[in-house]
Amino acid sequence: MTSPIARWLRASWGLVLTAGLAGGCASPPASRGAQDTVAFAPPADSLIPHDAAGRSILRGRALLAHTRDSLPAHVGAALQCVSCHPQDGRQAGAMPWVGVYARYPQYRSRSASLSLIEDRVNDCFQRSMNGKALDPASAEMRDIVAYLAFLSRGVPVGARVAGQGLVPLKVARGDSGRGATLFQVNCARCHGAGGAGTAAAPPLWGDASFNIGAGMARARTAAAFIRRNMPLDRPGSLSDQEAADVAAYITSQPRPDFPGKEHDWPEGGAPADVPYRLLSQPAPPPRH
Ligand code: HEC
Ligand code: HEC
Repeated sequence: MTSPIARWLRASWGLVLTAGLAGGCASPPASRGAQDTVAFAPPADSLIPHDAAGRSILRGRALLAHTRDSLPAHVGAALQCVSCHPQDGRQAGAMPWVGVYARYPQYRSRSASLSLIEDRVNDCFQRSMNGKALDPASAEMRDIVAYLAFLSRGVPVGARVAGQGLVPLKVARGDSGRGATLFQVNCARCHGAGGAGTAAAPPLWGDASFNIGAGMARARTAAAFIRRNMPLDRPGSLSDQEAADVAAYITSQPRPDFPGKEHDWPEGGAPADVPYRLLSQPAPPPRH
């Protein structure tokens, strides 16, 4: 089910975009399509200004790279933001932050509300980092948003950027038994045989991992990330099915809870791989 706000946003952004593309000339309004996707072009560091704005951008980038040490009260996991958004958020196909500032405000079905970029950042603090939200008015949030906005230079509001998000896999289901073997062969040398992380790589499950409410705790999201980005030294070496298998294994392991998770997707529309029961879903039939 799509909410009226989501439909309104899509419709009005479509209008703004097509008006912008028509550019005041007499050509007929362009229809939505490939022209709404802009190239993946992270700005060069030389474009960071040498002033207060530039210092804020650099502090923001440092917070995202050293999140746990810089903001210990807000991070419960042994993770940095860049553990999942590599290259300081500049890696295509790995949920890059390039253009992200131009994608918010955004209606999100998980909360059934309109999220500001600060809300989206805090979602990852609370779920992916198993921590606590930042005050949206804090200096730290301002610096983080300054960096995200810098990475979004030149991207039109509402546009898609090539390589944004993850490339979903066609394989719907993984086999966690096969995944366990694949994990030991391909992942354990960096992430540890017990998934708890080593000096070479962060944890994938257990107390120091992301919590159950995180996007990475969903098998399809994890599979799509792993397929393109892991093993770190041999990305792309697993097949779609192997990535789905290893993701099924990782997401079946224990990790911290996220209290209140049952209130997610209050108006429906939850993806099939959400690993917990939702109040908006009908109760399963009683077992006999
Ligand atoms: C455990 C992995 C993980 C960690 C750690 C993590 N994120 Fe995320 N992040 C995700 C996933 C998964 C998504 C959703 C991607 C999608 O749906 O395409 C996401 C999405 C985002 C988005 C929205 C991207 C978009 O294209 O709309 C932002 C902004 C973001 N994260 C910021 C952060 C920040 C800031 C931190 C650190 C406080 C962080 N993330 C830590 C996994 C992570
Ligand atoms: C050569 C070392 C290495 C290998 C092998 C490796 N990883 Fe990683 N992985 C990393 C590092 C380092 C990061 C943190 C991101 C970064 O620094 O680029 C990471 C991050 C991750 C993340 C997101 C952060 C987190 O800890 O939740 C996932 C999920 C992941 N790896 C899964 C896998 C899987 C599955 C395999 C096996 C198919 C694998 N990795 C193999 C080094 C490795």
